[in-house]
Amino acid sequence: RADALQQAFDARIDADARIEPQDWMPEAYRKTLVRQISQHAHSEIIGMQPEGNWISRAPSLKRKAILLAKVQDEGGHGLYLYSAAETLGVSRDALLDALHAGKAKYSSIFNYPTLTWADVGVIGWLVDGAAIMNQVPICRCSYGPYARAMIRICKEESFHQRQGYENLMAMMKGTAAQRAMVQESVNRWYWPVLAMFGPPDADSPNSALGMRWGIKRISNDDLRQKFVDATVPQAAILGVTLPDPDLKWNEERGHHDYGAIDWDDFWAVVNGNGPCNKERLATRVQAHREGQWVRDAALAHARKQQARALK
Ligand code: ACO
Repeated sequence: RADALQQAFDARIDADARIEPQDWMPEAYRKTLVRQISQHAHSEIIGMQPEGNWISRAPSLKRKAILLAKVQDEGGHGLYLYSAAETLGVSRDALLDALHAGKAKYSSIFNYPTLTWADVGVIGWLVDGAAIMNQVPICRCSYGPYARAMIRICKEESFHQRQGYENLMAMMKGTAAQRAMVQESVNRWYWPVLAMFGPPDADSPNSALGMRWGIKRISNDDLRQKFVDATVPQAAILGVTLPDPDLKWNEERGHHDYGAIDWDDFWAVVNGNGPCNKERLATRVQAHREGQWVRDAALAHARKQQARALK
């Protein structure tokens, strides 16, 4: 019977059909989805912090309203993703406990500081741009709840990317000091954004199965290349220089060549030693603790409703 279930699962994957929560699935498939979806959810809620720092210092009411909406969207993305993970039989509390204990991963990119207002624009343009590049293929992921969550997330990310680019455009049309601020920000974020796509394919232990199972549709290196190719013309229109002396068009490959990524720095950040890891985690733990009364109240309300319904 186990063989028959495995065969039925493999046939569904081969036919590019969706796997739903009630379907049988191999334990390793379930585990890899819980791993990826929870890391993704954690990234969304930790990702509220770097830009959240600028809400009270936004340069105008319009920019403040946009930023507030954007940061709130990221919180919402986390919630859809925790819900998708819960369909695999894990509890949100357990996932959050792992995050708060420093045992769970989240995207390396959110461990860098936001030093200037230009960082808000650059996060929208480059970080959210990279996120879209990575997440659009996940809309076709074999696991139904994850794929469906990604559709709305990608639409919202697209707004985030555009607001960032538009913010930078306005700054580039401003003073020399504003233009310098944008360039300095691009210089700091560009390389960590390229590393966001994950280790090179040859050093990516989860890729083979992720691909086989239709969770991952495009490899880390291929997505990185697509991102570089898309970013070069955007940088030219904006009028900024990408900080890579080796960046050049390769006619033969039909792609841009680019310089070497500092993978030692990437792994240091992933392993907890980036510039802001400790601060990000401490802020998250504190926010969770301070939100305890809200969860208690929601639970008490639900219990009251339930008791009334039973009467
Ligand atoms: N930051 C932190 N950890 C990373 C990163 C990164 N940028 N890239 C890879 N890793 C980790 C992986 O999670 C994996 O760790 P684990 O085995 O302990 O779980 C390890 O490095 C090796 O990487 P891969 O074998 O390449 O892992 P995987 O096949 O899962 O690919 C990727 C990594 C591309 C991030 C994939 O998990 C993915 O597409 N996730 C969904 C998208 C996502 O999480 N985006 C978050 C940032 S975008 C945003 O929130 C705005």
